[in-house]
Amino acid sequence: MKFTSTLVAAAGLLASPALAAPYAQLQTRNTTSSSSTVEQPVLNVTYTSPVNSSLPNVVIFATGGTIAGSSASNTDTTKYTAGVVGIEALVQAVPNILNVTNVVGSQVANTGSVNINSTIILRMAKLANGILCAENSTTDGLVITHGTDTLEETAFFMDMTVNCKSPVVVVGAMRPSTAISADGPANLLEAVTVAVSPAARNRGAMIVLNDRIGQATYTSKTNANSLDTFQAIEQGYIGGFLSNKPFFYYPASQPTFKNKFDVTNITELPQVDVLISYQNFDAALIPAAVKAGAKGIVIGGTGAGSTTDVAQPYIEAALAAGIPIVLSSKTNGGAVPPSGSGAISSGFLNPVKSRLQLQLALATGMGMEEIRGLFEDKLAGYLEA
Ligand SMILES: *[C@@H]1O[C@H](CO)[C@@H](O)[C@H](O)[C@H]1NC(C)=O
Ligand SMILES: *[C@@H]1O[C@H](CO)[C@@H](O)[C@H](O)[C@H]1NC(C)=O
Ligand SMILES: *[C@@H]1O[C@H](CO)[C@@H](O)[C@H](O)[C@H]1NC(C)=O
Ligand SMILES: *[C@@H]1O[C@H](CO)[C@@H](O)[C@H](O)[C@H]1NC(C)=O
Ligand SMILES: *[C@@H]1O[C@H](CO)[C@@H](O)[C@H](O)[C@H]1NC(C)=O
Ligand SMILES: *[C@@H]1O[C@H](CO)[C@@H](O)[C@H](O)[C@H]1NC(C)=O
Ligand SMILES: *[C@@H]1O[C@H](CO)[C@@H](O)[C@H](O)[C@H]1NC(C)=O
Repeated sequence: MKFTSTLVAAAGLLASPALAAPYAQLQTRNTTSSSSTVEQPVLNVTYTSPVNSSLPNVVIFATGGTIAGSSASNTDTTKYTAGVVGIEALVQAVPNILNVTNVVGSQVANTGSVNINSTIILRMAKLANGILCAENSTTDGLVITHGTDTLEETAFFMDMTVNCKSPVVVVGAMRPSTAISADGPANLLEAVTVAVSPAARNRGAMIVLNDRIGQATYTSKTNANSLDTFQAIEQGYIGGFLSNKPFFYYPASQPTFKNKFDVTNITELPQVDVLISYQNFDAALIPAAVKAGAKGIVIGGTGAGSTTDVAQPYIEAALAAGIPIVLSSKTNGGAVPPSGSGAISSGFLNPVKSRLQLQLALATGMGMEEIRGLFEDKLAGYLEA
């Protein structure tokens, strides 16, 4: 009786105008604001160090995040304001940087990484290609300072879209600049040291934190709080530091089956949403996502892309409507092997990385079967050989 009356009360609340109005607003997204198209961006230089012609040159894109964060208390590592310290202050806090390299800095954004979005990463990829990959480039490497929460997403996006020998190094910090043992200054020094190191060439984008170098495709944030959060559990680190000099364990190589994209003609990335599977997952949010503008969906499956039986009709309906569905794994490890039909398998890409690859595939005009080929063919060929 009590349960029934609670349900009745809840139903009444949902029907009340107070909840219905904002809910109605949320049914469509603000996807088509003109500020989200990226044409040919111009580098807005906000900091230039003194130039020493015998040193290499690095460009730093500062985006905010904990590495530029500040707190009123030096023991507080959770409640702080991300992105209050500008690029000049970041470099000045680590004068050793100017003994390693000349620096040109651009404040590309100033926000915690949860608010870094597809407009900002597309702009950075276009700028990076102009700065690093032009024939007359005098820049040895690019460093992006970034909040850690979505750092792996930006790093993987740069790995797919910036493909010349010069490296992109994405760096962050777990402790704000005002904390005891703040990790940002050392991380930043290590990141610029990697970016200008001849040994770092031809390795794609890398993530540098906590004295370690990880390849962007495989490295993820694995712990919400600790300094050693960035790891590639299976693939490991590609290098570390000895007396602040980067040391790579193997000669330069790139991830197996890496896909490269040219962003020159891409002006925006389509909306792709990520859902995860669990007991009772029924995928009813797929049509809701499509209604709200999603052009593709990634499902973080419970194992190797597994989802419930009741989710299947929604997945099949979306595929039939031309919406690609990619099955990845919410375990963030292992691979979803190629399926050849139905939903598309992610291979070794985790859900958020599958999303970025799907966005680029859609943005370059690929259709369903081309997208399946992109995600599945190389691994399928390997398994069949
Ligand atoms: C959508 O954009 C409108 C106009 O810019 C704004 O008033 C509204 O709050 C936005 N809604 C959401 C959900 O962001
Ligand atoms: C990303 O954020 C910037 C700055 O807040 C905003 O101008 C842009 O419209 C956003 N892009 C998307 C796709 O939301
Ligand atoms: C360049 O960056 C500075 C500092 O962030 C900002 O005040 C200025 O508006 C920017 N200029 C352009 C053209 O974006
Ligand atoms: C320029 O860099 C070189 C190489 O590190 C160093 O020996 C020299 O002292 C620097 N010059 C100045 C003016 O700092
Ligand atoms: C930079 O190099 C010079 C010359 O080798 C040295 O005297 C100075 O202490 C160095 N500065 C830093 C901050 O490492
Ligand atoms: C490289 O060449 C391009 C196109 O000619 C020019 O716009 C750019 O300023 C040059 N960059 C450098 C570093 O010389
Ligand atoms: C970009 O567009 C130009 C002009 O239409 C074209 O010549 C070029 O091949 C395109 N590049 C890519 C990578 O699609």
